[in-house]
Amino acid sequence: MRKTFQIHFEWDIVYMRSEVREIAKKIGFGEVDQSRIVQSISELARNIIQHAEEGMITVELIEKDGRTGLFINVRDLGPGIPDIDELLRNVHTKTNKEKKGLSHVAMLMDDFRIQSDDTGTAVEVIKWLKKSEIISKK
Ligand SMILES: Nc1ncnc2c1ncn2[C@@H]1O[C@H](COP(=O)(O)OP(=O)(O)OP(=O)(O)O)[C@@H](O)[C@H]1O
Ligand SMILES: [Mg+2]
Repeated sequence: MRKTFQIHFEWDIVYMRSEVREIAKKIGFGEVDQSRIVQSISELARNIIQHAEEGMITVELIEKDGRTGLFINVRDLGPGIPDIDELLRNVHTKTNKEKKGLSHVAMLMDDFRIQSDDTGTAVEVIKWLKKSEIISKK
């Protein structure tokens, strides 16, 4: 399972939110994790619109080492994050109250990776399904 969303306008986020919630539900995520996933893609999509104008988000079911997860790949060709090193130092702490979107995403998801330079920004996040959710799905 794999689906790509083009992000340019606010209503792209509205459409993507409901689609991704359905996908997460089908994979077997509980309501709390569905919300974490939807909240995260919303933050990442808002960053595209606010800071890069347009981009795309791909969600994909992945299996690794016996685990099942939802992989979210976010790409844009915008100006990049100028102070990426400082941002990465602070991303797991909540020191900066103004810019909290990305640290929120890092907190809500299990794996978080970001790369950015003056050719654009790439964010990759994963939410893993808990064993209990896999069992309850069967
Ligand atoms: N896709 C992007 N392209 C370019 N710059 C980005 C992108 N995403 C984030 N940034 C830069 O990184 C900073 C931190 O992003 P973050 O989402 O944490 O905060 P914010 O968008 O400024 O505010 P908030 O998300 O709290 O409303 C932004 O202020 C912006 O300068
Ligand atoms: Mg933001």
